[in-house]
Amino acid sequence: MTGTDIQQAKAFLEAGELVAIPTETVYGLAGNALDPAAVLSIFRVKNRPAFDPLIVHTNAFERLWEFVREIPEKALVLAEHLTPGPITFLLPKAESVPDLVTSGLDTVAVRIPRHEVSLSLLSQLAFPLAAPSANPFGYISPTTAQHVEQQLGKQIAYILDGGACEVGVESTIVGFEGDQVIVYRKGGTPIERIEQLVGPVEVRAHSSSNPQAPGMLKSHYAPRTPLTLMNDFVSVPHSDRIGVLSFQNDYGRLHQEILSITGDFAEAAHNLFAAMRRLDALGLDRIYAELVPERDLGTAINDRIRRAAAE
Ligand code: TXA
Ligand code: MG
Repeated sequence: MTGTDIQQAKAFLEAGELVAIPTETVYGLAGNALDPAAVLSIFRVKNRPAFDPLIVHTNAFERLWEFVREIPEKALVLAEHLTPGPITFLLPKAESVPDLVTSGLDTVAVRIPRHEVSLSLLSQLAFPLAAPSANPFGYISPTTAQHVEQQLGKQIAYILDGGACEVGVESTIVGFEGDQVIVYRKGGTPIERIEQLVGPVEVRAHSSSNPQAPGMLKSHYAPRTPLTLMNDFVSVPHSDRIGVLSFQNDYGRLHQEILSITGDFAEAAHNLFAAMRRLDALGLDRIYAELVPERDLGTAINDRIRRAAAE
C-alpha cells in the first residue's frame, strides 16, 4: 500500500514490518535497525547478499551516540555543515547495533536524511532505521514511490510517499583513518564541498568491488537493457531499437532522455534514475549513455552510468 500517513508507517515499523521511506537521495527500504528479524527481512526482500552492510538512519546528530562509539573531529565538522543531507559516515559501531546490520564489520554507516517526512517519522521512533535503497539488489535505485511500488510493492507493508527525491543519487560515503577523510562512494554531496570543509580527501571509491565497502560491486544500478558508454554520437547505430541517454544535447532520436537541457548537474542527478528506468521499460536492444563533465555532482552521475554499463 502506498500513502502519506506517517502514523501508519510508524505503526508498521514498531510491529517489526518494513516500510519504504522517502529521502532526499533515493527511497529506502526501512526496518528497525536494532531488531535482527526486521533487518533479516530487509536482506530477504531486496535479495541482497548478507556481506553487504546497511546504512542506519536517524533524525538528529545527538542520537548518533546511541549507535557509535566515537566521532572523529573531521566527522564533527562535516556533520555540522552537511547534515541533514546526502552524506553517510562510517564510524566505530556501538554494541547496540546488530552484527547483521554491519555484516560483521566494526564500523557502522550512519546518516541523517534531509527529508521532512522521514525526519518527522524518525523523530517519533524510539529506534533508528536500517535502510538500503528500495530496489531489488543490483537494479537502479528508486526515486519515486511508484518506482518502489512497481518492484517491491507486494513484499512490503507500506510505502510512505514523499514525492520525487530531490537529489536523485545516493549519499556520499565517508570514512576516517586518523586525520584522513576517505570517500568510499561518490554521491549527493560533491567531493569539492567536503574538501572545502576538511581539506584534501582520499578517494577509495573504485568502480570494482571494494573490500571496505563490499556492496560497491561493479555492476550496480544497472538497467536490464544492455547499456554502452557513448564516446561519440556518430558511432551510435541508426535504429529505433536503440535508446540514448544524454547530458544536455538533443540528438533527435526517437527514444532519448536528456538529463538537463541547461547542463545543470543537480537537475541531471535528479533525473538520472527515472530516465534510466523509462528507457529500460521500452525493452530496447541497447541504451547508449553519454558521460557528463567529471566535476561536482557529475562525478557521482558518471559513477552510476559507468556501473550501469558494467556487464
Ligand atoms: O542515499 C543513500 O545512502 C540511500 C538512502 C536510502 O539513504 N541508501 C543507500 O543504501 O544507498 P545502500 O544499502 O543501497 O548502499 C549502502 C552502501 C553499500 O554499498 C554498503 O556496502 C555500504 O553502504 N556500507 C554500509 N555499511 C558499511 C560499512 N560499515 N562499511 C563500509 N561500507 C558500508
Ligand atoms: Mg543501493
